[in-house]
Amino acid sequence: MSHRSESIQKPARITTKLQPFGETVFSEINRLAMESGAVNLGQGCPDFDAPDFIREAARDAINSGHNQYPPMGGAPVLTQAIADDFQATASIQVDPAHEITVTCGCTEAIAACLIGLLEPGDEVIVMDPVYDSYRPCLAMAGAIPRALTLKPPHFELDAAAIDALCTEKTRAVMLNTPHNPTGRVFTPAELEALADVCRRRDLIVLSDEVYHRMVYEGRHISIASLPGMYERTITLNSLGKTFSVTGWKIGWAIAPPHLTAGIRSAHQFLTFDIAHPFQHAAAVALRNREIYYQELHDTYLERRDLLCEGLEQAGFGVYRPQGAYFVLCDHSHLGQPDDISAAKWLIEHAGVAAIPPSSFYTDPAEGASLMRFGFCKRIETIKAALERLAQL
Ligand SMILES: Cc1ncc(COP(=O)(O)O)c(C=O)c1O
Repeated sequence: MSHRSESIQKPARITTKLQPFGETVFSEINRLAMESGAVNLGQGCPDFDAPDFIREAARDAINSGHNQYPPMGGAPVLTQAIADDFQATASIQVDPAHEITVTCGCTEAIAACLIGLLEPGDEVIVMDPVYDSYRPCLAMAGAIPRALTLKPPHFELDAAAIDALCTEKTRAVMLNTPHNPTGRVFTPAELEALADVCRRRDLIVLSDEVYHRMVYEGRHISIASLPGMYERTITLNSLGKTFSVTGWKIGWAIAPPHLTAGIRSAHQFLTFDIAHPFQHAAAVALRNREIYYQELHDTYLERRDLLCEGLEQAGFGVYRPQGAYFVLCDHSHLGQPDDISAAKWLIEHAGVAAIPPSSFYTDPAEGASLMRFGFCKRIETIKAALERLAQL
């Protein structure tokens, strides 16, 4: 008897918790881009390879025999390197054994925090447009998102509006700075005002800082470093963006022991352990990289400016990012009714793929006039896309 999948004709079986989310918009746009040979500025991963030092470190780690289960919280060599890096960037000293958990990318860290710390029915503040895994992870945790929209042109963080959204069920705020996709780097005043709400209302903060090394205007501040905040903050980060190794999926959560307990309670049953040799390579990568970080900043700044100027010349209304590696812009000049039609139209008529961001909003209408282009690409790729857009 045949068991081939095409012989099984049944409707997709998906838990009701996850039915509203469907296929991610990234998968659909990437598929269309591949089918049509479009230049892809949609996907948030580099089209160039990782630096030699990190690839060599991974080969060395495998050859040195780091190939069995590491400790559940992370290989000590990496948790120590993360602790040192956090001390250098946020001036906070943490105990790597009890305050750092290595996870499968920042994505698992987000899931482990929400599943391990929240009760069903808890409310969590998110800031639209929001990274696409936040809402499904909240749904898996049985928590309820309460969204505040960051509005163009400046995408300010309005702490008073967050305060007004809070109820007696609000437990946490999800912050992302530098912010994907708006490119905002929140200012000391914005973060201090948010911290004030969190202290007053006894809220936990999940602070997603995966783009912290890509800041072109302003200064990155970990909210954990503000007075009275470390005890209520989980700082989330990962290796993927900083070292162009998005496929390695090495992430981490830094939190005081009482919050780390909840994160690890979920992490131990989600993945338990993260690829051991890559943890050793990550530890090597995080040591003494100031020159590398400066070069990373400089090359991304050049790419940001190239892309922003080209998009402006092609008629887009550009919101120049202060950080991260995306440009959010207005596509109204294309005359398309919404972002999804505009993204498909661009693939078909210009041969360029970008991400329609309406699915990052609670109310998709708020993102309908917007489009996200990534500049985590080679200069040639960006130029090729801009040449095509200039033909329109
Ligand atoms: C804001 C934000 N958080 C988290 C992630 C996921 O990070 P990782 O690849 O380490 O899981 C991304 C990836 O695009 C992101 O943009």
